[in-house]
Amino acid sequence: MAVENSVKIFKEAREVLVGGVNSPVRSFVSVGGDPLVMARGKGSRFQDVDGNAYTDYCLSWGALILGHARREVVAAVKKAAAAGASFGTTTAIEVEIAQFIVKHVPSIELVRFVNSGTEAAMSAVRLSRGFTKRKMVVKFDGCYHGHVDDLLIAAGSGVAKLQQSSSLGIPRAHVQNTLSLPYNDTAALMETLNRFHKDIAGVIIEPVAGNMGVVAAKKDFLKVLRYLTRKYGIVLIFDEVMTGFRTSLGCVQKELDMIPDLTCLGKIIGGGFPIGAYGGRKDIMECLAPLGGVYQAGTFSGNPVILSAGLATLKNLNGEFYERLNRLAERFGREMNEHFRKKNVPAHLSVYRSMMSLRFRKEPVRDYADAQAASSAGLYARLFGWLLNNGVYWPPADLEAFFLSSAHSQKDLRRLASLLKQFFTDG
Ligand SMILES: Cc1ncc(COP(=O)(O)O)c(C=O)c1O
Repeated sequence: MAVENSVKIFKEAREVLVGGVNSPVRSFVSVGGDPLVMARGKGSRFQDVDGNAYTDYCLSWGALILGHARREVVAAVKKAAAAGASFGTTTAIEVEIAQFIVKHVPSIELVRFVNSGTEAAMSAVRLSRGFTKRKMVVKFDGCYHGHVDDLLIAAGSGVAKLQQSSSLGIPRAHVQNTLSLPYNDTAALMETLNRFHKDIAGVIIEPVAGNMGVVAAKKDFLKVLRYLTRKYGIVLIFDEVMTGFRTSLGCVQKELDMIPDLTCLGKIIGGGFPIGAYGGRKDIMECLAPLGGVYQAGTFSGNPVILSAGLATLKNLNGEFYERLNRLAERFGREMNEHFRKKNVPAHLSVYRSMMSLRFRKEPVRDYADAQAASSAGLYARLFGWLLNNGVYWPPADLEAFFLSSAHSQKDLRRLASLLKQFFTDG
């Protein structure tokens, strides 16, 4: 596979961009080799600057549920851009997309748009502190909520590859009020909340984690979490930046019939453009400026071009859409897992709807410690290279989730299945 142009551009990139990238995992630091420079995409496929085509299962880290360059998304963006990129005022489209979100996401009565999932999580935590007038925040090992100072502890895939479990540059004061607990550990949760509840403002969780590979929270664990947070007046925040509108219109919270106080969204609601949002209970959201004393603002928040892409995306989503997409993914997962079992391959796919990840062991993964035990950087790097050489792009790091879009076909998945089988037979 010729990649001269990628190599040339990446060499230049290293001279002017830190490590040649604007987000660390793109540098292939976890899998080795020369990072590819992408040029264009359409449907389930994208192409690098040397003209090599790949079926894309990373999909801009889950953002592209319709695949690349979907016609109506492109048209909406062109139309919105031609009408003016940004006004710094309220626009009608903000209202339309907010109505869509309020209608479908059970916990959200009021919503605020921001520019990234990081900003959404950061603001939701601030709001929980402003609302409760308490200082501590609880998160769970292996959950990633963006690069928020207070939450960058035991934060899953990208951060796990750093030498420190959290980042340099974060003073102790920022994390001394953060507790990170084992995911799915009800006893640790009960002990912590019972003991520290007077000081805990919020608990933030990915109800289905995607940043230690895919791990669903146990229903009983979430029930206890909801019960105790309600009992103690702690703000429960579901981070659905990855799962929001990926799994269903009502998101994971509706599927589990578990209503948090606040929800963070991102990725899909921007149709492939930078976005974040948080929303929830009216009495909590009304603590935000201009109605309340918790300040949060943004020059580009609710940008009409981005929201046009988001709305054009959301308009495609309905029960039938998810039924097809989830069925495709779940069947693929089931067939691969049957194959692994039959052939005694020490691997399995963790699947939740159209989010999946490959584990290098047979036993299910329930928390971050399990996820790390089932991870093999070396084996994943070999698998990644094998897939890439065969025209399939997976996330360039073990412990990341991969995704399907509505543009992926049975044929795409048959090919992926065949490559995975070959890898584990011959590799
Ligand atoms: C669950 C979750 N929360 C927050 C974020 C941060 O979002 P962003 O990268 O848009 O800042 C991510 C990003 O992958 C995520 O998966």
